[in-house]
Amino acid sequence: MTAHTTVPFVDTNIIPDRNVGIGSLLWDLQHPGDAGRDEPPLLGPAFAFIDVGVSRAQVAVALKTLLADDFAMDVEYVATERPEAVPAASVWLVGEPGETVRRSVARMISTTQTARDVDDWYFVVDREGTVASVTYCYELHGNEVWEAYFMGRPFMHEGERVAFSDPELDALLAADVMRIEAGMAREQQAHALRRPAPSWEGYRVQWNPLQKGLAECGIVLQATDVPRRVPGRQNVLFLGNVLNHYPRDERARHFERITADMHEDDLIVVQMDGIETPSIDVFHLARHGGGVRRERVRWINTRTLEVRRRAPDSRAWQLLHLEPEVRQLVRRLVEDFCRSHGVGEADVHGRISHVLRTFFRAAPVDATRRIAIQEAARRLSADAARC
Ligand SMILES: C[S@@+](CC[C@H](N)C(=O)[O-])C[C@H]1O[C@@H](n2cnc3c(N)ncnc32)[C@H](O)[C@@H]1O
Repeated sequence: MTAHTTVPFVDTNIIPDRNVGIGSLLWDLQHPGDAGRDEPPLLGPAFAFIDVGVSRAQVAVALKTLLADDFAMDVEYVATERPEAVPAASVWLVGEPGETVRRSVARMISTTQTARDVDDWYFVVDREGTVASVTYCYELHGNEVWEAYFMGRPFMHEGERVAFSDPELDALLAADVMRIEAGMAREQQAHALRRPAPSWEGYRVQWNPLQKGLAECGIVLQATDVPRRVPGRQNVLFLGNVLNHYPRDERARHFERITADMHEDDLIVVQMDGIETPSIDVFHLARHGGGVRRERVRWINTRTLEVRRRAPDSRAWQLLHLEPEVRQLVRRLVEDFCRSHGVGEADVHGRISHVLRTFFRAAPVDATRRIAIQEAARRLSADAARC
């Protein structure tokens, strides 16, 4: 890594179902016939999905559940993360001291226009035993959004080196950061001397949260920055908001490095959010002459819902506008929901529109429409339960 990227390299804004649009995209790649296209599928019925850069288990769990359960796809799901970014522990501060920090984080993230409540927070401890960040969550559009606070240390965000600090919160955290780091050092000593682990009074500790959270959903973690291909199946390598966090002039080099183990016929999907033109690219590794060439087969603008697609072996690009169909679907769902639940359109329109716009990355077909409608209904019921 260069000097640029030796600072923590993270996502400050993790939304468990931000990547679910990949479900409708993969369905389209597997079933071109559903959308009336007479062409061979680019994705076979059984495949391995390598989710690169899974900083929180929930993000991968949400996508695996969608692919394996909702779409009933035959998928072997693997997650990867850079070894230094795999957390050793999550540590909660219990009782009133934890509540005081929670209120301080809520103050920090609230503005005069938007008051935010923090639902949960904890310290993230890295493999060196250092408190790397504080992570907290709040509700947004029916999602549990997780963000990280780096206590004034620089971190990489969308390819830029950023530092942010809140003195009031830092003062509240300082003593616990010291105690937790001392506790981690005692843990290591006790482990080396085979002594009983020290007590963590005042704290609740969860060890290896990423591996455990993934394992609960049958996902194996590769702690590496060069993903290893899964043998015996077509592989889909998914870079969800990984490349856009590298400095612009280093992206091409890292892209080559991260995709180096992929083979002929594999697919590479690159998603970039939080930038001016959020997009998804799909590349197919096709045989060409004596070697294998990366061919772009999709480019999706996820803000305008424009899809540019190219059939295998064709040079011609086709442009599709998903927006009108998605908007019509939103209108129909809003009307149905308001009629059956006796609520006003203003209350539900934003939520339904948000779910469907993040869900469709290809023209709606029966299978994807059904799951999108279920998901919108689930989010609206979760909202009703919260009120
Ligand atoms: C911005 S987060 C993306 C999280 C998630 N994929 C998403 O879309 O919400 C980027 C993550 O990618 C990880 N990362 C960066 N380069 C990587 C690499 N070469 N291999 C594995 N993980 C990497 C970082 O450590 C960080 O946790």
